[in-house]
Amino acid sequence: MMRAPLLPLPESHVMDRRPSAAAAIAGALFLSACQTPTHRPMEIVTTPFGTTADGQQVRLFELRSASGPIARVTDYGATLVEMWAPDRSGEMADVILGFDDVRGYESDANQYFGCTTGRVANRIAEGRFELGGQTYQLAVNNGPNHLHGGGARALNRVVWDAEAAVTEEGQQVRFRYVSPNGEEGYPAALTMSVTYTLTADGDLRIDYEATSDGATPFNLTNHAYWNLAGQGAPTVLDHELRLNASRYTPVDATLIPTGAIDTVPVALDFRSARPIRDHLEGVAGTSTEGYDHNFVLDGNPDALDFAAELHDPTSGRVLSIWTTEPGIQFYSGNFLFGQRGKRGATYAHRSACCLETQHFPDSVNQPTFPSTILRPGETLRTTTLHRFSAR
Ligand code: GLA
Repeated sequence: MMRAPLLPLPESHVMDRRPSAAAAIAGALFLSACQTPTHRPMEIVTTPFGTTADGQQVRLFELRSASGPIARVTDYGATLVEMWAPDRSGEMADVILGFDDVRGYESDANQYFGCTTGRVANRIAEGRFELGGQTYQLAVNNGPNHLHGGGARALNRVVWDAEAAVTEEGQQVRFRYVSPNGEEGYPAALTMSVTYTLTADGDLRIDYEATSDGATPFNLTNHAYWNLAGQGAPTVLDHELRLNASRYTPVDATLIPTGAIDTVPVALDFRSARPIRDHLEGVAGTSTEGYDHNFVLDGNPDALDFAAELHDPTSGRVLSIWTTEPGIQFYSGNFLFGQRGKRGATYAHRSACCLETQHFPDSVNQPTFPSTILRPGETLRTTTLHRFSAR
């Protein structure tokens, strides 16, 4: 691991929006620059990413692959900050939403952009659950419910330890964090790692591992917001989505699952790829205000299996996702409000979507859902893989 200064991408090589001909040339130059990097290819470049409001210095780590994709991750919230992927002519774009430094991630404009979300991703009804004969009350931070791990000590708001390494597979950063017993109201001390690996083939794999000194609910995801035309492009509704899911978990008016597992209705049927916009009216006027649904994956629950494919027909970029998790939350950016993000980009309503691999929302209160309880002596391991291509 080395700590040489990051070589910023020259402005002309930075593609956030729809490509122009000049940008295509710039992209090609950028690609050739990737193939002949000015720093040694085996080095993981680390740069400062600002100082948190309480004075902690955080860092940005750059992962490169021989085949093109580049990822940048920070130890603040074990967050994916940038993800560069080539279009069908080789032009690179950063395809996720985010901020230029840690202050952006600490601000109210941050709606969990790219972060590691937990201890329990998504909602817990009224922030309350019973475990081992005790009732636990967590922060209520989303209407009447608990969302995404709570408040100031949720996992997306803490600084993780980081260790960068070059392995046979590719470049990798392992983030580690020990959450003490009672943090954000959750029982038991949890020891966690989240490892981002950018393989030589350009796949971004996220491996999660956790142990606990007591029984506790646990459900981590990554909350990247994708726009395959490049972050800042105006909408994601013309992206085509395919989900490997014939069932979903219906929710009540506050987005808590009813406990049912139902067959997808037409508006939620993404078994064949189709534009996100096609049946949006079927969900826009409901409590979810668009797509914000947990799908029950049809794949093998014991294996890394296909979950989702997102395709931008304009640029040709394709993201496909494999996971060991039983569910995926498809969220169509319904609460994006035009906040200012990386390099001056604006994040309009529905200008990105999330595909959050996970156990089902409110599992701790839903006895029929796969359990999210981690017990002492167990090691929890889950993996989600992101593959980038173009057609
Ligand atoms: C998840 C939730 C949404 C919303 C976003 C963050 O996807 O399901 O309802 O809270 O996170 O804004």
